[in-house]
Amino acid sequence: MATTTPESTKHGLAAGAAAQPESADWTISQGWEHYTAADHATWKTLFQRQTKLLPGRACDEFVQGMRDLPIGADEIPDFRRLSEVLMPRTGWQVVAVPGLVPDEVFFDHLANRRFPAGNFIRQPHELDYLEEPDVFHDVFGHVPMLMNPAIADFIQAYGQGGLRAQQLGKLAQLARVYWYTVEFGLLQQGDGLRLYGSGIASSYTESQFCLDSPSPNRIRFGLERVMRTNYRIDDFQESYFVIRDLDELLEFTRIDFAPLYESAAQAPELQPGDVLPTDQVFSRGDGSYHRARRTGGTP
Ligand SMILES: [Fe+2]
Repeated sequence: MATTTPESTKHGLAAGAAAQPESADWTISQGWEHYTAADHATWKTLFQRQTKLLPGRACDEFVQGMRDLPIGADEIPDFRRLSEVLMPRTGWQVVAVPGLVPDEVFFDHLANRRFPAGNFIRQPHELDYLEEPDVFHDVFGHVPMLMNPAIADFIQAYGQGGLRAQQLGKLAQLARVYWYTVEFGLLQQGDGLRLYGSGIASSYTESQFCLDSPSPNRIRFGLERVMRTNYRIDDFQESYFVIRDLDELLEFTRIDFAPLYESAAQAPELQPGDVLPTDQVFSRGDGSYHRARRTGGTP
């Protein structure tokens, strides 16, 4: 079982495992009319347990975004209706794709403020583990954050930066930035740490683990630090990185990443659980969860 990201393969959403549809940009119709009662029931189960869990854990912007969107318990949201609300707010729209798409397709969508969302929903027996992002991860986890202007600009800039990073051969470094922000990021709020990353916001187990468990490290975010740091794709993260607030992401859109790629490449690569003397640590994890996993015990 892989514990860290293989270079230049799995990249958050984008890997290219699905069969290509007819359209060059990989978009398909959501096919909303074709969801079954069982599909909507799975959505409802996921939605209800997650909305109970997130107050006090998700950042205020996530909660507000969810409130302002046509996302409810009773049915899988219709992407057209989401886009009608999202577009006037931040210029984003949600488009349907069959699953993972190639990196350059993914980046091109983001650079043009189109969020590619899987149109399928997980099966009832896989509520807590997914190989590919489904409609619950993509819509419940990502779309509320796209209502926020700072993260809306950051994700567009990430799409543009992705195309550049590909040419520079630095995609793995850039993908780590996305992973430790958009997917698994924490931020500081007046009353403590909150989550804003979609991978954790849409996960029943990790939304608790990332804030409540003594196991993971919670470390102040640094661009170069994160570019050097491998991440886990098969389990909870060993370290979470904390930004000051969402406006910090906006500051990153004004930075040229090229010199950072170079200096990150000069320093040793870091493993997910590593803590450096130079890190500003919010809480030093005891590593108990992953140690128990490695020795085959019960975490
Ligand atoms: Fe995601």
